[in-house]
Amino acid sequence: MQSLQEQIKAHEQDINSFTPADAKELEEYRIKYLGTKGIVKQIFGEMKNVPVEQKKEAGQVLNAFKQLAEGKYEEFKHLQDGASQKGPAIDITMPGTELPLGTRHPLRMVENQIVSIFEKIGFSVATGPEIEDDWHNFTSLNMPEHHPARDMQDTFYVSQNPDWVLRTHTSSVQARIMEQGKLPVRVLCPGRVYRNETISARAHCFFHQCEGLYIDKGVSFADLKQALYYFVTEMFGPDTKVRFRPSYFPFTEPSAEMDISCTVCGGSGCNLCKHTGWVEILGCGMVHPNMLRNFGIDPEVYTGYAFGMGIERITQIKYQVNDLRLYSQNDVRFLKQFQSQ
Ligand code: DAH
Repeated sequence: MQSLQEQIKAHEQDINSFTPADAKELEEYRIKYLGTKGIVKQIFGEMKNVPVEQKKEAGQVLNAFKQLAEGKYEEFKHLQDGASQKGPAIDITMPGTELPLGTRHPLRMVENQIVSIFEKIGFSVATGPEIEDDWHNFTSLNMPEHHPARDMQDTFYVSQNPDWVLRTHTSSVQARIMEQGKLPVRVLCPGRVYRNETISARAHCFFHQCEGLYIDKGVSFADLKQALYYFVTEMFGPDTKVRFRPSYFPFTEPSAEMDISCTVCGGSGCNLCKHTGWVEILGCGMVHPNMLRNFGIDPEVYTGYAFGMGIERITQIKYQVNDLRLYSQNDVRFLKQFQSQ
């Protein structure tokens, strides 16, 4: 009897820990415990060897065991119901409902790239308002009223206030940074700008720029060239050449425009570079002493460089986008192409 009880205990443990995953496992269990040659039958067969005075007690133990074994089977019988149907109740192999995921806008991607390149050489990001006053957009940048350079940019004026404009360039943020009076400064100012242009493939009434400004003691044109050269190699690859051409901007002296060797044809001539082998990417120069003085900075002590580039232009060169309008049409077929970059 002792050994019978031990046997039962061991089986009970097995039964208690048994959780069938499917109808097949349940059927195997049924055959093992409840079948005609199953363990329950077998153990009941042992009853004949139990001494008469222990039969009653043994009978109770055996009945409890049988109930346990049958109970487990009942508990999972629903697995068989599923199996008896034509197919499974739920098709777990069916693909889920796809939730469309947005993608980053190509201009934002390029802006992020520009920012992270300059962050590595100590620039931080600053922003300013898109509705700007005359002082920050023009006058303080060495462009007083009636200065011919104002005509270089077709300005949107805000009708409520004759002093307000939609900023025509991110150079206005330079002015806002300088007026804070904290030196040295090394900032990058990305943002949207507005100009009163007829919308076409090559021009738009709003676009994006990224301004850079570095003012400290002893900043030179060589520092400017080195920073921009580093930017170009990071952005367009180490084989890209740069060249500087003298230019004019009221807020820098000397001023220059920077070209890079055409990344599409490598210099042999194509539509992007108009068969010159070079594409212009930005304007730059040493901050004009007048501009420093406008903000109480002594040009005898401090010098600085500044640069400004169009984000659409950089994106166009990188991805050969030929129509500026695509950036603001929100056509998912266009926007999706930049997903993996
Ligand atoms: N503000 C100029 C533009 O919109 C670009 C520019 C040129 C910015 C030279 C600068 C600079 O900071 O130094 O065309």
